Amino acid sequence: MKTITVASLSGGQGKTTTAYFLARSLAENFRVLAVDADPQASLTFYLQHQVEEDQPTLLEVLRKTVEVEDGIYPTPTENLFLIPADRALNQAQEYLAGSGAGALVLSRRLRDVQSLFDFCIIDAPPQETQICLSAIAAADWLTIPIEATVKGANSLVFTLDAIAKLKDVADYEGEILGILPFRDRWFGYSQSKDCREALAAAKHIAEDIPFFPSVRESEQIKKAMRFGNTLDEDLNYPFAQMVEAIALLQSTVNNQQPSKTVKSLAV
Ligand SMILES: Nc1ncnc2c1ncn2[C@@H]1O[C@H](COP(=O)(O)OP(=O)(O)O)[C@@H](O)[C@H]1O
Ligand SMILES: [Mg+2]
Repeated sequence: MKTITVASLSGGQGKTTTAYFLARSLAENFRVLAVDADPQASLTFYLQHQVEEDQPTLLEVLRKTVEVEDGIYPTPTENLFLIPADRALNQAQEYLAGSGAGALVLSRRLRDVQSLFDFCIIDAPPQETQICLSAIAAADWLTIPIEATVKGANSLVFTLDAIAKLKDVADYEGEILGILPFRDRWFGYSQSKDCREALAAAKHIAEDIPFFPSVRESEQIKKAMRFGNTLDEDLNYPFAQMVEAIALLQSTVNNQQPSKTVKSLAV
C-alpha cells in the first residue's frame, strides 16, 4: 500500500476536494482506503458516511482501542473504503502529544492494513496539529493543493516548512508528488491577474517541486455546494494527470526500479 496525504496548512485550499476525487479515481483500478484526518469531517460527509455513536472512527484507531480494520467502512464507491472522522477527533490531539512520538502514530497503525489496499489517501486538517503532522508523516507521497491566491502561496510556505521540520526531527522520507493550484480563475483564454501573480509567487517558493495542471474555479461546484449537495457523479475533475503519475510511480515501485522519476512525472 502506498499512502498519499493531501496536505495544505490553511482552510479552503482544496484538500478535501482533491482527496475525494483522487480516492474515487484511483478506486476505478485499485483498492483504496480513504482516511479522514480532519475533525471537520468533510471527507466523511462527501463519502456519505454517517458516524453512529458506538462506531469506531479514526480517533479509536489512533488510540488503539480497536483494531484498525474495525474502523474501516465501505462507501458507495466500489473498492473505496473509509476510516471516518467526526468532531471528537480533536481529542486525539492530547493522546498524540502525550505519546512521545505523535507524528509516527498514524503511520504505525496503517501498517496493520498495509496488505489490504493498494493506496491510502489521507485528508489532512488545515492547522499544524499533531494529527496533521501524523497525517503528513504517514505519507509516502504528498500532494499540496493551494488556492491560486496570496493565501494559497502562504499556505505553501507553511506546508513546506512543516515537512522540512519533520525531515529534521523524524528522518521523514516522504516525497512531494506535486503542487495542485486550486480555483484558478480564467476568463476565456486569459488567466486573472491575481491568480497569475499568486501562482508565479508559489512557483518561486516551490523551486523544483512540480506543479499539476490547475483546477479551475467552477460555478458548477460552487452551486452544488450551495445547495448542500454532496459532490455529484457527473462532475468531472481534472485529476487524470495526477492519477496517471501515481499509477506510473506505483508500477515503477512494483518493478523495483528506483523511484527517482517522481519529480519529472508531473509538469
Ligand atoms: N473548482 C472549484 N471551483 C470553485 N469552488 C470549488 C471548486 N472545487 C471545490 N470548491 C469549493 O472550495 C471550497 C474549499 O474546498 P475544500 O476542498 O473543502 O478545501 P479544504 O479541504 O482545503 O478546506 C469548498 O467549499 C468546495 O466546495
Ligand atoms: Mg477539508
